[in-house]
Amino acid sequence: MLRIYMAAAGLAIMLTAHGNAAVRYLAPTKIWILETDRTSYVLGINELNELQHVYFGKKLLRDADLVAVRATGGYAFESKEGMTPEEYPGWGGMRYFEPCLKVTTAKGTRDLVLKYVSHEIRGDVLDIRLKDIRYDLGVTLSYQVFPGYDIIRKQSRIENRTSAPIVVESAQSGVWYVPAGGGYRLSYLTGRWAGETQLMREPIQPGKKVLESRRGNTSHQANPWFAIDAQGAADEEHGRVWFGLLGWSGNWKFSVEQTPNQQVRVIGGYNDFDFGYQLKPGEALETPPFYGGFTDQGFGETSRILHRFERAEILPDRASPHPRPVLYNSWEATEFAVNEAGQTELAQKAAKIGVELFVMDDGWFGQRNDDHAGLGDWFVNTRKFPNGLKGLIDAVNGLGMKFGLWVEPEMVNPNSDLYRAHPDWAIHFEDRPRTEGRNQLILNMARDDVRDHIFGVLDKLVSENNIAFLKWDMNRHFTEPGWPEVPPAEQKKIWVKYVNNVYDVIDRLRARHPKLEIESCSGGGGRVDLGIMRRVDEVWTSDNTEAFDRLRIQEGFSQAYAAKVMMAWVTDVPNMNGRSTSLKYRFLVAMNGSLGIGANLNHWSNEDFALAKNMVGLYKSIRATVQQGRLYRLRMPPDDVMANEYASNDGAQAVLFAFRHSQQLGEPAPPIYLRGLDPNATYRLRRLDGLLLDHGEELSGSYLMNQGLRFNLSGDFAASAVVLERE
Ligand code: GLA
Repeated sequence: MLRIYMAAAGLAIMLTAHGNAAVRYLAPTKIWILETDRTSYVLGINELNELQHVYFGKKLLRDADLVAVRATGGYAFESKEGMTPEEYPGWGGMRYFEPCLKVTTAKGTRDLVLKYVSHEIRGDVLDIRLKDIRYDLGVTLSYQVFPGYDIIRKQSRIENRTSAPIVVESAQSGVWYVPAGGGYRLSYLTGRWAGETQLMREPIQPGKKVLESRRGNTSHQANPWFAIDAQGAADEEHGRVWFGLLGWSGNWKFSVEQTPNQQVRVIGGYNDFDFGYQLKPGEALETPPFYGGFTDQGFGETSRILHRFERAEILPDRASPHPRPVLYNSWEATEFAVNEAGQTELAQKAAKIGVELFVMDDGWFGQRNDDHAGLGDWFVNTRKFPNGLKGLIDAVNGLGMKFGLWVEPEMVNPNSDLYRAHPDWAIHFEDRPRTEGRNQLILNMARDDVRDHIFGVLDKLVSENNIAFLKWDMNRHFTEPGWPEVPPAEQKKIWVKYVNNVYDVIDRLRARHPKLEIESCSGGGGRVDLGIMRRVDEVWTSDNTEAFDRLRIQEGFSQAYAAKVMMAWVTDVPNMNGRSTSLKYRFLVAMNGSLGIGANLNHWSNEDFALAKNMVGLYKSIRATVQQGRLYRLRMPPDDVMANEYASNDGAQAVLFAFRHSQQLGEPAPPIYLRGLDPNATYRLRRLDGLLLDHGEELSGSYLMNQGLRFNLSGDFAASAVVLERE
């Protein structure tokens, strides 16, 4: 009672000490404070009337501690402003580090110095307006605070109010600073097709590290997420971590820089490579949103903050989050050889094991018998489907499942009716060859007529058929990014306009068909970012469905993105790397995300069906916890034993998955210590199999977290799981 009273009294003092608005302006010192439940972000105007970063980290408790900011340093080779942590530096004056904005005016002037003009606070949003010292070129920086989620979102809008065109050569969303000094470590995600989201960690040294995509979409090769920890000392549970995510599905870039004066900063936004965005008088350019946060509780909390934020503020069902269905996808079973009888047979088998959404993949349209033809011709192949799609969809619906369909709307095969009719619709330079990737070209979605055609095709498809779900694929990257129909000075806009028009088609489609759900796929995880995730319900994680490889891909994915959106299929063996693992192992791996099945069910034995039915049943009993709960990565690859725990937000359930790669020398698997449980609560154990060693049927949270659980994980590719239900 006394403790409650004191906590309440403490809160009252705190509130009077600095008010409780998430965005506050302290006029006497010209300082803004952006505050979330656990963090503070502080910026101010200095004596040069320039916007300066002050602080980002654990919540500061007293506004009165903050004094007016002053630019620092300055000598012959570095200016004050160059050495000051500016919030949005233009490239101008004596500034040599990565700028947020670089322009060339019609006269050829390449110098931009941004000064503070005004600001406006709108609830949890702070807009700050800056302007060049000479030209009427304005930038509005928008900071949105998500107090309950410990996230701040930055975005900038660049407006040409002069009377002549201006070319924007670099437009960044913003910069995140960590406290000045050395000894920081960078974590990031890199990879390749079939090997996405590999977690890298390395020291930040003086100089610059660039993470980027020049490929037209987010890319498999790098993903727009970063984390920086202090002294390289953070682990899953401890340590100060600053992190950020960019919401953009086109060319993007992070410049992670340690300047000679020990500033460590990450600037992110549009990739400035081949950029050149012309703004005519009155035109504006908005940058992608850049989300950032801080925690002093390590990488585990970093991920939990992001997962929670994505579910509540990003995903299309954010207003009322609901779990993802268990799906079946035909791709690995049939590839292009789809037809009504074959798909119906698979659907019947899928229904028996508890699948809720049946998705037919590539091969159903035009002359699509392999990957050489058909893309662009989005009408059903009546040789394969004599009753149109209706025959199959009725059968699927009759089995109690929803129906989903694969499309790749942005693409065209030269061997297609669409290309024969509109060769100019493909992205190209008139005087250059057109490089094909997977025998296909990219339709120029930057063109509004192409965009409207694609919208029309998809709208018709979804209007005429009972389609609940689209898997939206993109199976190649940009080459020869020409747009001959517009003047040369406008052509580079393709990088931005293309992506915005893809977003526009999805937005319009969803508005017209509110029940439609969409998966973002780009040859696996090539288009995974918060820009697309505002518009799609899930993403295809990787074309690599080999379960052991997947553990590593999923572990990287989980650093940044919620399990709910991470599609994970159980497929056949031998798989990638020639590896075979048991069906149980494959299920347990896939159950760490949004479960799907992609195996050829025609090859399954009765035992396989029985096991699958059990596993799908188990998954349904824990999916709310996996998809919406808190993830604790208890042991991570490349450890021999890997373990993930998911705990429900209400504390009623937790589930633990444990995997072993290869036992050696007969060594027993180490105990696994759970986390995030109530030490005083009692949990009833629901075992999956006999691998959990002698523990009682009911255990306290304190035992589970301190004594831990031991599994008999022996041999190669052993796996088990246990569900804990709070008494
Ligand atoms: C891509 C996807 C696969 C499958 C094929 C179909 O590779 O990632 O899942 O849909 O295309 O051609």
